[in-house]
Amino acid sequence: MMTPKQIVDALDRYIIGQEEAKRAVAIALRNRYRRSCLSEELREEITPKNIIMLGPTGVGKTEIARRLAKLVDAPFIKVEATKFTEVGYVGKDVESMIRDLVEESIRLTKTLRMNEVKPAAEAATEARIVELLLPNAKKQRPQVNPLQYLLGAGTAPQNDEPKLSEEEQEKHRSLREQTLARLRSGVLENEIVEIEVEESASGPILAMGVDMDLGSVLGDILPKKRRLKKMPVCQARPILLQQESEKRIDMDDVNRVALRNAEQNGIIFLDEIDKIAGAANHGGADVSREGVQRDILPIVEGTTISTKYGAIKTDFILFIGAGAFHVSKVSDLIPELQGRFPIRVTLKDLTEEDFYRILTQPDNAVTKQYAALLRPDNVNLSFTEDALREIAKYAFRANEQNENIGARRLHTVMENLLNDISFNANGQHPLIDVVIDGEYVDQHLSAEWSEDTIHKYIL
Ligand SMILES: Nc1ncnc2c1ncn2[C@@H]1O[C@H](COP(=O)(O)OP(=O)(O)OP(=O)(O)O)[C@@H](O)[C@H]1O
Ligand SMILES: [Mg+2]
Repeated sequence: MMTPKQIVDALDRYIIGQEEAKRAVAIALRNRYRRSCLSEELREEITPKNIIMLGPTGVGKTEIARRLAKLVDAPFIKVEATKFTEVGYVGKDVESMIRDLVEESIRLTKTLRMNEVKPAAEAATEARIVELLLPNAKKQRPQVNPLQYLLGAGTAPQNDEPKLSEEEQEKHRSLREQTLARLRSGVLENEIVEIEVEESASGPILAMGVDMDLGSVLGDILPKKRRLKKMPVCQARPILLQQESEKRIDMDDVNRVALRNAEQNGIIFLDEIDKIAGAANHGGADVSREGVQRDILPIVEGTTISTKYGAIKTDFILFIGAGAFHVSKVSDLIPELQGRFPIRVTLKDLTEEDFYRILTQPDNAVTKQYAALLRPDNVNLSFTEDALREIAKYAFRANEQNENIGARRLHTVMENLLNDISFNANGQHPLIDVVIDGEYVDQHLSAEWSEDTIHKYIL
């Protein structure tokens, strides 16, 4: 288990600045571990101290929470608090966020298990492809007994196969080995094979205009429709791999483990929480805002919610609220809810220097992304120091002059800057070194810049 310091260090690899927020989430995470070391009685007494992040748009609120969850494989979802004030949502179904968290947890656990069984599933997939490719393959076509089909059972019992002579068996084996060798060499990728695929039932039902995902509700009840489909090996492989992996996973176990993981380690990011903090004197809207707060309250305080996988206690889920709080204040939330979010951290506006660092330092820095993206098209992209400074300056000024969208501005600026290169690179040329320097940045961004400025002053 990581120490708070290690957590902050890990977050530093993706998020520039915002030390206060990083510390707060690191402590919250470590406290979970501390709590897990305590005796049962004491443990039940200690619930997470939820956090509210205050700060303008695009400065890292969501990113910090998301990265935190990822660091420790914690189930994580983001919900917009305002969603619950929409027509049709008022006064109900805030519980859906807990169900979504459980679904996410199941997806996480299932992915982990899938990775564990991957080697075995891959071997089985290869063997199945070889069988399908054998010229005189006994027809794999499952003879489906209509009654079993209706009950959703898989393949019907095999017919007795005629015994093969020793010689025939030997021939078969060597053929199989040859096919395997050719498959591995990659020359059979476009051979056509016929495999069984499942069709989800949701398509036709949704087409009737029912506004809910019946497929997922009834998925476990309705028999899965199976049918045979022809496709090249390269397309069949992932489908077969999925089938072979699922065969090797105990879904009851996955559901049980995932439910507990959501309960003990889940993180819910409640975005736009400032928008449900009703600043007084707004008539009707306030009623639903306060109503939403009252609906959310028991979930944050700790209650038991039933899901289709079982009951889950919400007491230990970590809630991270976030909002700009430009109009309303945290103190505009109902007192009970304020009390459940005792930790407040303020994220700062990003500076030009921050932009420069965001461009280059994070593991997923946008300059690294573009360089990686263009490499397959034989472009070796790099940036000079002064180019990066210029980009940061342009982005910062664009935020000042237009809407301040925080670090998101860097993405639009980079997109404009590299538009020509992205369009023209096509891989049909030898490897080209493209060095973006300050002059290039000036040339490509100044046009856009002056236009922006003109608009600004005309309006
Ligand atoms: N401090 C930062 N360091 C590195 N990247 C950042 C930082 N702040 C924002 N970004 C990048 O900007 C984008 C938007 O950030 P994020 O989603 O965290 O914004 P936010 O604060 O949640 O804003 P909003 O209130 O609009 O939801 C992300 O792609 C993120 O990687
Ligand atoms: Mg956000």
